[in-house]
Amino acid sequence: MDDLSGKVAVVTGGAAGIGRGIVGALLDEGCRVVIADIEAPVLAAAVAELAGRGDVRGVVTDVSDPVSVAALADQVYDELGACNVLWNNAGVTSGGGGNPWEQEPNDWRWCFGVNVFGTANGVLEFVPRMIAGDEPGVVVTTSSGDGGIAPVPYASVYASSKAAISCFTEALAHQFIAQKTKLRAAVFYPSGGLLETGLWEAQRNRPAELARVRPRPPAPGTTFAEFREALAAAGRPTDIVDLDELGRFAVQGVKDGRFVISHNLDAAGALLHARADAIADGQLPPSALEGLT
Ligand SMILES: NC(=O)c1ccc[n+]([C@@H]2O[C@H](COP(=O)([O-])OP(=O)(O)OC[C@H]3O[C@@H](n4cnc5c(N)ncnc54)[C@H](O)[C@@H]3O)[C@@H](O)[C@H]2O)c1
Repeated sequence: MDDLSGKVAVVTGGAAGIGRGIVGALLDEGCRVVIADIEAPVLAAAVAELAGRGDVRGVVTDVSDPVSVAALADQVYDELGACNVLWNNAGVTSGGGGNPWEQEPNDWRWCFGVNVFGTANGVLEFVPRMIAGDEPGVVVTTSSGDGGIAPVPYASVYASSKAAISCFTEALAHQFIAQKTKLRAAVFYPSGGLLETGLWEAQRNRPAELARVRPRPPAPGTTFAEFREALAAAGRPTDIVDLDELGRFAVQGVKDGRFVISHNLDAAGALLHARADAIADGQLPPSALEGLT
């Protein structure tokens, strides 16, 4: 995938935040890009704003709904005849953090519905068609160091969802090779500093039927500003990542054929070694709070 020119890319959750940076970078590489996002007005605005950079179109999609993702795949294949890059990027936090025992079934349903089933739905609908198309292609999962590397304990549901999709993507990558397909898989860990995105207000897209039953107990650090202040108070770095630059970095990782696309892999590696040592000794591994920024 070192030359993406003319290739078809589908980016879920690409209307805003990290996904939008990825879309811009793919357009700059000459890809024809389909943005699949649930937020119709934001999607329409993104398509209008990015139109000058290349062939971009939007399809309103709820990745947690298999019927919606099947309709997306039908439209992509009808209009463009292929998918070479499937980027499962849409994601939500269950919102607000808190103790694991305070997370309700609907927190799990919504977060796993989008992050885990959303990824599965993309793979189920697109991968058989990508294999049948017999062209080189890649499936990229936007995971998170929170869960993908080690959990942030007060974000237990989100961390569990991201651990699941990192694991799934690894299995997918192995099977693509074992089955001698022309496809590869990659996992992207957004990184390199603080990410000021809509993830902090993910509740805006939460369906009413998956609302919480009880009010969420107050938890500190649930807005980006509070989180940043807490880091500053602890003397930790608070630099904000340029999302266009992050998109270019992620797309370059795909072009380079990397499986793991992330900044600061030395720090992640050190934490993973410490985790492996603890697990091998039957002990609780250190959390993300002890190693990731
Ligand atoms: N922001 C961070 O700190 C951070 C860190 C690591 C990983 N991530 C991951 O990066 C990805 C992008 O998140 P972001 O930070 O840009 O947040 P964001 O809220 O700015 O973007 C997420 C996009 O997904 C869309 N979306 C939400 N639910 C959807 C659904 N059911 N179907 C289709 N689209 C849906 C939203 O409309 C939005 O455009 C997510 O997978 C997130 O978990 C974010």
